[in-house]
Amino acid sequence: MASFAFSWYLFLFLWRLQNSLVSATVNASGTTPCLAISSALPGKVFFQENTAYVSSLGSYYSAQEEEINPACVVIPTCTADVSTALVILNDIHSSNSSSGGFAIRSGGHGIFAGDANIENGVTIDLSQFNSTDFIQPDKSVVRIGAGARWTTVYEVLDPYNLTVLGGRTPSVGVGGYLPGGGLSFLSQRFGWACDAENTIGYEVVLASGQVVYANASGPYSDLFLALKGGLNNLGIVTRFDMTTYSLGQMWGGFVLYPIAILDSMLSAYSDFMDPDNYDRDADMVFAVGYLNPGWVPILNLGMQYTKPVADPPVFRSLYNASVAEDDTMRIASLTNITAEEDAHNPSGYRQIYMTSTFAHTPEIYARAWDLFNSSADQVFAVANITYVFILQPTPILNGTNSLGLNASDIRLNIALVSVSWTNSEDDELVTNTVTDFFTALKALATDSSVDRDFIYANYAYKTQDPIDGYGAENKARLQAASKKYDAGGLFQTGVPGGFKLFV
Ligand SMILES: Cc1cc2nc3c(=O)[nH]c(=O)nc-3n(C[C@H](O)[C@H](O)[C@H](O)COP(=O)(O)OP(=O)(O)OC[C@H]3O[C@@H](n4cnc5c(N)ncnc54)[C@H](O)[C@@H]3O)c2cc1C
Ligand SMILES: *[C@@H]1O[C@H](CO)[C@@H](O)[C@H](O)[C@H]1NC(C)=O
Ligand SMILES: *[C@@H]1O[C@H](CO)[C@@H](O)[C@H](O)[C@H]1NC(C)=O
Ligand SMILES: *[C@@H]1O[C@H](CO)[C@@H](O)[C@H](O)[C@H]1NC(C)=O
Ligand SMILES: *[C@@H]1O[C@H](CO)[C@@H](O)[C@H](O)[C@H]1NC(C)=O
Ligand SMILES: *[C@@H]1O[C@H](CO)[C@@H](O)[C@H](O)[C@H]1NC(C)=O
Ligand SMILES: *[C@@H]1O[C@H](CO)[C@@H](O)[C@H](O)[C@H]1NC(C)=O
Ligand SMILES: *[C@@H]1O[C@H](CO)[C@@H](O)[C@H](O)[C@H]1NC(C)=O
Ligand SMILES: *[C@@H]1O[C@H](CO)[C@@H](O)[C@H](O)[C@H]1NC(C)=O
Ligand SMILES: *[C@@H]1O[C@H](CO)[C@@H](O)[C@H](O)[C@H]1NC(C)=O
Ligand SMILES: *[C@@H]1O[C@H](CO)[C@@H](O)[C@H](O)[C@H]1NC(C)=O
Ligand SMILES: *[C@@H]1O[C@H](CO)[C@@H](O)[C@H](O)[C@H]1NC(C)=O
Repeated sequence: MASFAFSWYLFLFLWRLQNSLVSATVNASGTTPCLAISSALPGKVFFQENTAYVSSLGSYYSAQEEEINPACVVIPTCTADVSTALVILNDIHSSNSSSGGFAIRSGGHGIFAGDANIENGVTIDLSQFNSTDFIQPDKSVVRIGAGARWTTVYEVLDPYNLTVLGGRTPSVGVGGYLPGGGLSFLSQRFGWACDAENTIGYEVVLASGQVVYANASGPYSDLFLALKGGLNNLGIVTRFDMTTYSLGQMWGGFVLYPIAILDSMLSAYSDFMDPDNYDRDADMVFAVGYLNPGWVPILNLGMQYTKPVADPPVFRSLYNASVAEDDTMRIASLTNITAEEDAHNPSGYRQIYMTSTFAHTPEIYARAWDLFNSSADQVFAVANITYVFILQPTPILNGTNSLGLNASDIRLNIALVSVSWTNSEDDELVTNTVTDFFTALKALATDSSVDRDFIYANYAYKTQDPIDGYGAENKARLQAASKKYDAGGLFQTGVPGGFKLFV
């Protein structure tokens, strides 16, 4: 730590020296942010015609993010580069708050326009932070770069039969997933990926450019807790230290059923959600809706059991091979099973995610589907539309994080609507339809006394307020951390993407 602090001061000194030399001709507010960063980080700032710029934009998941044109893409290759860029951006932003706006981008799977990209601004692309390293001889902790995708993390851990609580869909980025919570195949067993037990340390670049290491016991324990749900509001996280778990083979895959058995599958899902049937090795995703091309009804269940046991009792009423139209359930490695998820989620479409949360109660599932199915009438004519309603259980709720979930809620459902389509003229209709559906779903959940305020940030649309959903106490703690580590509010007003703390 001492040498780390020393190199930071040395770096700051050199940066200030260099800055004072150039300020005679160009100061931060007198030039564009891109040029200022480009002169401090030569070869790491890319403009429109450059192939690095083009391929950075081309690697977003949603079309809405891809079509935004930043003035430049900054691709730092080390933590000091991120620090240099932040010092400059903070300088510009503090002298002119309508200048120096930037976006922070890791895996690019944030869906809505402007989450991790910014028109005419600076997009900081962390894709070069893609390493995965064991930091102790016993391999109990792995240090992962923010720009890594779970695919590469799993590949490193697999040979040792180890894993971490990474994404179910492996192309998702580490840098957005973890500060948002993180739901993995192992979440029923070990909680949210961000929980203090699972993500044990963060290397963070603060608004000032200072680099700190936040963990549970050191001087930044408040920052550590704030990052467990605090999204991009506290700093740019460059590395995450995660606990590894032993995992051999598991049972998992997808089963496609005829829509005709939806009623019996909804009641089977309700049985699965009954606290009496809880099995911490079992996780699942229940998806029902309409698929492109052709507006074909689909009923698709993803089931995962974290032991090499085929057809365990907990899935008995959900898994019926004799009626399946397609069935990939198998015993395989986690990497093999997650790879299948990517195939279900092609990139390049216009996309929306929106979400809400309600507690388990048997009668709600069929009624929620009826609401969704009626909303579908509004959008069936949209070109190439896939319109899907997804239910997913939350993990056990006793971990340490800032998400504000109540441990007495043994079984909660996260409801996610996932839509893709191709033409921007349909954006408004789709968005309004999904918004209206959630208004109706909230009313149903309230009526059934199971509505909850929690809004899973990683699935939220920009009009939602996940920070508010963490509850007053957590929100106040996050705001206090922001005032302490970002007194000038750089991440509040300089980074418009994501969900902000003071709204
Ligand atoms: C196909 C698909 C599958 C998904 N599967 C899962 C899943 O299994 N489980 C789950 O929990 N979620 C899942 N998600 C949601 C996903 O976790 C979030 O979209 C997450 O934000 C993506 O992270 P990213 O790094 O790819 O995103 P980006 O688009 O790069 O960033 C998303 C947000 O995080 C911020 N951010 C990014 N990097 C950093 C950083 N280093 N420091 C601070 N802030 C940062 C950005 O500014 C932005 O606001 C899925 C999403 C998609 C589209
Ligand atoms: C920076 O440049 C701007 C515009 O050229 C000028 O108004 C300002 O005084 C300069 N600031 C410093 C600290 O030199
Ligand atoms: C602040 O920045 C904006 C956007 O770059 C610019 O239009 C405006 O002129 C700047 N204001 C000042 C006082 O320099
Ligand atoms: C990380 O990025 C570098 C540079 O783009 C690339 O050469 C390397 O293969 C990547 N590593 C992984 C594990 O993806
Ligand atoms: C991983 O597990 C498999 C069995 O599932 C076993 O054959 C292999 O030896 C294990 N590898 C290590 C490194 O423990
Ligand atoms: C926690 O972080 C501090 C630096 O902030 C460091 O000095 C300390 O060694 C870390 N503790 C552990 C257990 O890693
Ligand atoms: C599977 O579906 C068939 C056909 O509907 C039915 O006869 C059978 O009882 C089901 N099995 C289970 C275990 O639910
Ligand atoms: C998963 O394993 C099966 C069987 O070994 C193999 O056929 C398939 O290609 C693997 N899939 C991936 C994505 O690795
Ligand atoms: C969905 O609604 C339509 C009417 O709009 C109805 O015909 C159809 O049966 C419903 N589908 C399901 C699976 O409930
Ligand atoms: C549907 O998508 C395909 C390719 O993804 C595209 O060629 C086609 O034009 C789209 N159809 C409509 C009606 O937009
Ligand atoms: C949460 O509860 C489970 C048992 O329900 C227990 O095994 C685990 O240690 C608990 N975790 C924490 C952080 O208290
Ligand atoms: C947690 O939920 C229980 C039961 O619904 C409720 O009595 C309690 O007040 C809740 N606690 C908080 C902090 O919301």
